[in-house]
Amino acid sequence: MTETYMNKNATVAERVSDLLSRMTIEEKIGQLTQLPANVEGNTDKLEEWHIGSYLHCTGDAAMRLQERAAKTRLGIPLIFGIDAIHGHCFDNDATVFPTQLSASSSWDRELMREMAKVAAKEVRATGIHWTFSPVLCIGRDARWGRVNETYGEDAWLIGEMAAETVKGYQGENFASPDSILACAKHYVAYGETTGGRDSYEADVSRRKLKSTFLPPFRKAVQKSKVASLMTGYHSNDGLPCTTDKWLLTDVAKTDWGLDGFIVTDWDNVKSLHTKQKVSPTIEDACYRALVAGNDMMMSTAEFYEAAVKLVKDGQVDIEVVNNAVARILTKKFELGLFDEMRFYSPDRQEIFGNPQNLELAIEASLKSIVMLKNDGILPLKPTKDLTVLVTGPNADDVIAQLGDWSFGSMQAGATNDSFHREQAVTTLQAFQAASKQYGFKVEYVKGADCIDSEFEQVEELARALTQADVVIACVGDTLAQNGEFHDRANLDLTGKQQAMLEQIKASGVPLIVNLVASKPMTIPWVAENANALLCGFNSGTKGGEAVKRVILGEHNPSGKLTISFPYHVGQLPVFYNKYEGWHAQNSHTTGHKERYIDMPEHPLFSFGEGKSYSQFEYSNVYLKQVVIEPNTDIEVSLTVTNKSVIDGTEIVQVYFNDHFSSVTTPIKQLCGFERVDIPAGQSVDVTIKVNFSDLALVNSELEEVVEAGTFSLMVGASSKDKDLITLEFEVTQTTKVH
Ligand code: NOJ
Repeated sequence: MTETYMNKNATVAERVSDLLSRMTIEEKIGQLTQLPANVEGNTDKLEEWHIGSYLHCTGDAAMRLQERAAKTRLGIPLIFGIDAIHGHCFDNDATVFPTQLSASSSWDRELMREMAKVAAKEVRATGIHWTFSPVLCIGRDARWGRVNETYGEDAWLIGEMAAETVKGYQGENFASPDSILACAKHYVAYGETTGGRDSYEADVSRRKLKSTFLPPFRKAVQKSKVASLMTGYHSNDGLPCTTDKWLLTDVAKTDWGLDGFIVTDWDNVKSLHTKQKVSPTIEDACYRALVAGNDMMMSTAEFYEAAVKLVKDGQVDIEVVNNAVARILTKKFELGLFDEMRFYSPDRQEIFGNPQNLELAIEASLKSIVMLKNDGILPLKPTKDLTVLVTGPNADDVIAQLGDWSFGSMQAGATNDSFHREQAVTTLQAFQAASKQYGFKVEYVKGADCIDSEFEQVEELARALTQADVVIACVGDTLAQNGEFHDRANLDLTGKQQAMLEQIKASGVPLIVNLVASKPMTIPWVAENANALLCGFNSGTKGGEAVKRVILGEHNPSGKLTISFPYHVGQLPVFYNKYEGWHAQNSHTTGHKERYIDMPEHPLFSFGEGKSYSQFEYSNVYLKQVVIEPNTDIEVSLTVTNKSVIDGTEIVQVYFNDHFSSVTTPIKQLCGFERVDIPAGQSVDVTIKVNFSDLALVNSELEEVVEAGTFSLMVGASSKDKDLITLEFEVTQTTKVH
């Protein structure tokens, strides 16, 4: 007779409970142990330690390990995890999308879903079931090395983007070939570590966690049913995330009802002993991690033996272990790993390199480009007599263009730039192809390097400048300057990039700057001196093609920044939703100016900012109701007119402000947006709904409430006051939400 756990007709709950009843303590702890497959000796442990999960398997390694797992006593399948962060980027044939920071400039919910769907299909086709994505960290300090992995600086927008990404990865049914588990990380406030120093301490109170950092995770758990969370490396207010029972068990599992499991980040358990020093022994670290509510321990090999002992000695209740094992097994059953999907192995050709995926990559890059300045030079007319000089370190550098978590990044262990080269189109390549199509001339001088302080091509550049009608300078940063352990204290252009730009400016040839970078850089000189400035951050495999289409007017840009650019690194933080008290106009009442005396109050470029070749006009803005009863959503309607002769897309943004509240609240907070396509010369009516619960603050009792009183609702083209039309409404009663 087939055991219940192998019976496809039994429910998942019945199968899990049957399997649990058959497992030894060792087999249970093995399920909680995840090891990196690419570290020597780890795969040898599969049978001995009953390993439940490996990460970072590439090639056919996953399949080989799965075959071994099938032969173990209970045949429990492995679950494989990988960092498919902006596509399944560690596979050379996969589609590499723009990074989260780049793609977030599209403000396009559907795009987020579609990119995740492609990634899911490609990941699953390589025998892997789980991606450590999306990142829900808030990018409020650009010095942090991992800003590129975020959806920018706004928690509400992050929640919206992440919820769609999770839906795209997970789909409707985990057992289908285009579904994988998502992992919302890093739980929580990892981006807020002091001074932008990776993995350090975050001075964030519980109230701040509840008001700003937890909501995007709640959305991922409750709205899109994310299957896993990953804890952060860091501590909040002195408590390492990995030991925070309130965070893991009380909030995520009990309050939100997480239907999935929690994995630690890399070696977080051992770090409790070796780095954070809250545990005098490894055993104590394992104990704390287990009782706090972590279900799977990543990369702490010592966990296996220590945890077995803790359970056998009665120090950890077996029910704690059972609960964690059940959460993991549930997902393995749901993924179909005990059934048909155990050895799922489709023909790679059918999945990878699919033209539709590459079309989506182009669409993503196009929607993600932000035009930050245009004095009228763009779009460039590609006439036959034109000579375009393409220059800069990132004009033809695939690795810089693709960014972190792709080949060349630390985690891939590869440093040459041949990977993804076949599919990738750099700016230089795109212009070379366009020159054949339109008949103009393209010259290329690499010029300065991002890192090297030598600039040997001064004369070559000077010579090329004498022939050029326009320069496209691709500057920014490169992989060695971002990612994990790569925080920067200086956000200026490095190497001799600035000198190169100044040489171009001095020549009098018009200058178009294309920023290929992992984060906002301090570039006031560029903002002032370039004729045009485009920013695509790390814009994916077709990033260069997208830049070319925007420059030549084949595409009307629509992207808007999701992160502010500071003038100077000392101005950080510059995020738009600062707290009340900051207002310069309030300063006469308090005598304090909430700004530096030597720096403007506003950023160089603001959240929500981005230009189009069209001009949009907002009119007829009104609220459906101005007196809002508890739990009633707010509806704002408006008309947007495209005053230009070309079709365009506008990203309409809605912000609110709570006039007087029991605690300080942001001067404005995003609460709605809509991408609106508007044909040339036409008007489109738009209605945006704002959820009542999004007006909430967290009061001093740690309750989430919408307080009665007057609110402003601001509607417009960016977070800048000058771009916003303000209305008012009244909330009648203080109301608890969530
Ligand atoms: C460490 C990183 O912080 C995390 O984001 C990643 O998913 C894991 N390593 C696995 O590579």
